[in-house]
Amino acid sequence: MLAGKRILLIVGGGIAAFKTPELVRLFKAAGAAVTPVLTRAGAEFVTPLTLGTLAGEEAHTALFDLTKEVEIGHIQLSRSADLVVVAPATADLMSKMATGAADDLASTLLLATDKRVLIAPAMNVRMWEHPATQRNLATLQKDGVAIIGPNAGDMACGEYGPGRMSEPAEIVARAEAMLSDGPLKGKRIIVTSGPTHEPIDPVRYIANRSSGAQGTAIAKALAALGAEVVFVTGPATVPSPSGVQVVKVETAAEMLGAVQTALPADAAVMAAAVADWRVENASKAKMKKDGGTLPTLSFTENPDILATVSQLAQGRPKLVVGFAAETNDVVAYATAKRGRKGCDWIVANDVRPETGIMGGSENAVTLITEAGAEDWPRMGKDAVAERLAARIAAAL
Ligand code: C5P
Repeated sequence: MLAGKRILLIVGGGIAAFKTPELVRLFKAAGAAVTPVLTRAGAEFVTPLTLGTLAGEEAHTALFDLTKEVEIGHIQLSRSADLVVVAPATADLMSKMATGAADDLASTLLLATDKRVLIAPAMNVRMWEHPATQRNLATLQKDGVAIIGPNAGDMACGEYGPGRMSEPAEIVARAEAMLSDGPLKGKRIIVTSGPTHEPIDPVRYIANRSSGAQGTAIAKALAALGAEVVFVTGPATVPSPSGVQVVKVETAAEMLGAVQTALPADAAVMAAAVADWRVENASKAKMKKDGGTLPTLSFTENPDILATVSQLAQGRPKLVVGFAAETNDVVAYATAKRGRKGCDWIVANDVRPETGIMGGSENAVTLITEAGAEDWPRMGKDAVAERLAARIAAAL
């Protein structure tokens, strides 16, 4: 719930602004007060009257309104909120934020605020993928700006891909997580989850059976305790949790890159089932079934993300947690793995098919720490996640 919280909602100029009346309505329904601010372009897509009426207070549009500067200055406006939400965050607004431009009310508020900022990017796929936007995104991430979406799908401009603004309900869930007063408030935690896909050629890949269920449950449980979670996920079968920053990747190399971009963090929980090997020189063109000769794939080792993060000389998270899926001598192998990788804890589980754990809804884990091995009773993956999140909160 957002009772007693104030959201400063900055609406940029994109077609996704049509979702902002619903966003204001959901924020109000969750108990928050909303101060709408529209850029000049934003006001072309949704009227200040609509947002002001739904918010129950005036929507602001211009910087140089001297009467308003006397009543409520832009500095006060930017600081009276508990959270600043930018939705839709256009390529232009992101660029202004990344460079510190302040040439209208919205960008000035974003530069003047001392509060956390959540942006929901929305733009054409090409604009999103342009190196300039990706550079700005990386800068904003480093500046501590929280990002939600964009989601992939059909776009108003007729193209398909990442660029759709997150749904209002997703944005509200994320705002709730960011404003929650749980024991992990103010802590940034990276969670990896799901399998990786390693290409053989443009249409074929090597994968594994990880569903992403345990990593998803952990991300959810950490966010529920107030953590700011960056959820780096391979192509999982379960949907990503709400209330976290989702970064979708395919390969181990991309996963490592996404984790490195997400650093620094207070903790990292590596629940992904990362492929150990990838195909060396994956073919750029689809391999053909020629004259009865069988292809030979040669493999090369993938980077070990857990070991890389655990052994960082600078900027290592205070707590690094790895997973170990074993079929025999679980505790002995997992204890050895903890030493080899250099992580602080290992969550070990027995994945023999008869346990029904891999792909199932329950898990029986052993937590291996510096103090030794601790067997947890068999329980639902959500319960394992909640117990682990509570332990992480106690350790940070
Ligand atoms: O070595 P193994 O794959 O058994 O280790 C499992 C742990 O290491 C998991 O926490 C997994 O997420 C992590 N891992 C990784 N990068 C790899 C391989 C495994 O982060 N390339």
